[in-house]
Amino acid sequence: MTSQNGSGRRALCGWHFLPLLIVFFLTEASDCKSHPWNSIILTQHWPESVCLVDKCKEHPKIDYWTVHGLWPKKSMMCNNSWHFNIKNVENILVDLKHFWPDVLHPNGTQLWKHEWQKHGTCAALREPLNSQEKYFSKALELYKKLDLNSVLAKFHIVPSAEYYMLEEIENALLSTYGTIPKIQCIHPTEEGSVQTLGQIELCFNTDFQLLNCTETIYNKLNLGSNGQRSEYLDLSVCSQDLKIYYPPVEHRN
Ligand SMILES: *[C@@H]1O[C@H](CO)[C@@H](O)[C@H](O)[C@H]1NC(C)=O
Ligand SMILES: *[C@@H]1O[C@H](CO)[C@@H](O)[C@H](O)[C@H]1NC(C)=O
Ligand SMILES: *[C@@H]1O[C@H](CO)[C@@H](O)[C@H](O)[C@H]1NC(C)=O
Repeated sequence: MTSQNGSGRRALCGWHFLPLLIVFFLTEASDCKSHPWNSIILTQHWPESVCLVDKCKEHPKIDYWTVHGLWPKKSMMCNNSWHFNIKNVENILVDLKHFWPDVLHPNGTQLWKHEWQKHGTCAALREPLNSQEKYFSKALELYKKLDLNSVLAKFHIVPSAEYYMLEEIENALLSTYGTIPKIQCIHPTEEGSVQTLGQIELCFNTDFQLLNCTETIYNKLNLGSNGQRSEYLDLSVCSQDLKIYYPPVEHRN
């Protein structure tokens, strides 16, 4: 995860010595100033996949998609002096714990703190998200509205030993939401031929209407939605050609 002192942003801004092509992409992909965002991404992850990679200390056994974050495109770390305070989200704490848990640190608040610092401070540049309560509430509101868990189940895409193809998952979401999601997988090790479903992003405009998540330059370069190479879970856009494993929750201890 990115350090909390702004070095992530400085690193992006300092990449201009790279060859011209890369500079072009980065100019497109990152923004060193804090402009208000024009689109924002609700990112949900599958806790079992998070645990597969990151070896959860205490297996949370969560069998539904949870919120990872609400990420404005092209900006992050907009105000390092605006600190997360759990008191500001007391009214929605029950929902936060349930739908936006810190999968790696059960009952911890690190994830919320991190998401606020990295993404929330930029989200707050627009009035509908300009407080911690508004930011976290809006993410929960979008999460509930999307109802990803029911949508997948309705299309018989359920965690199981069966495999799926990207097209099936994509079509289920496209036909429900009318927009193209970004579906990310954990890629197989060299010998493997199966990828693991990890994360699903849906994109919104400033009025929180769904948009197509089709910024191909991010996908091609395997960059995260903010133009940063995605290190979290080694996730990148799922391959069309490999089977997808959607891991069921382990019931052993
Ligand atoms: C950063 O956040 C602090 C604390 O909320 C606020 O006082 C300050 O005005 C903000 N700075 C900018 C540049 O928005
Ligand atoms: C987390 O909270 C739940 C419910 O409050 C509790 O049952 C559980 O023991 C807690 N886990 C840890 C690691 O504190
Ligand atoms: C998103 O893409 C789909 C499929 O290409 C298209 O039918 C739809 O109109 C697009 N929606 C928006 C909001 O751009």
